[in-house]
Amino acid sequence: FVEDQTEIIRASWNQVKHNEVDILYSIFAANPDIQARFPQFAGKDLKTLKSSSSFASHAGRIVGFFSKITELNPNDSGVSAAKTLINEVAASHKGRGVSKAQFNAFRVSLTAYLADHVTWNENVAQAWEKGLDNVYLVLFSAF
Ligand code: HEM
Repeated sequence: FVEDQTEIIRASWNQVKHNEVDILYSIFAANPDIQARFPQFAGKDLKTLKSSSSFASHAGRIVGFFSKITELNPNDSGVSAAKTLINEVAASHKGRGVSKAQFNAFRVSLTAYLADHVTWNENVAQAWEKGLDNVYLVLFSAF
């Protein structure tokens, strides 16, 4: 089952993994308080930012995290590599004062983006729900 779930997540992520700018844009559009946490982007017009190279590079790093995670295999070494990556994000974001509520809002927006842009059905929704539950379990263990 874990393999099925991994395959479903990979197949759907492959449909949007190059839409980094579009994904970060949709997260900021739905959550101005998340945008406001980014020193470079706070208070700036989102539509204008969307076409800037600095926005693209941030989007690449943030969205790229999910590409790294989905490429790992669900065996012991993959799980341990995922934990390391997630713990890095937890530590850096905790240091910045990012709240659990903001992480949850990020998740809601990311899932909404997926539902709108990939082949979506009950199985796909469930695979993402479980996958993101696993990621957030590790993430929030640091909070
Ligand atoms: C930077 C990932 C959610 C605010 C980063 C970086 C990554 C990343 C990989 C670059 C490395 C680093 O500086 O740590 C993620 C992931 C998230 C997430 C995977 C959700 C699961 C959030 C949220 C906020 C946020 C909810 C704010 C409310 C920031 C800020 C930076 C950052 C302010 C630094 C940007 C800069 O370099 O100026 N994030 N992030 N992130 N993230 Fe996140």
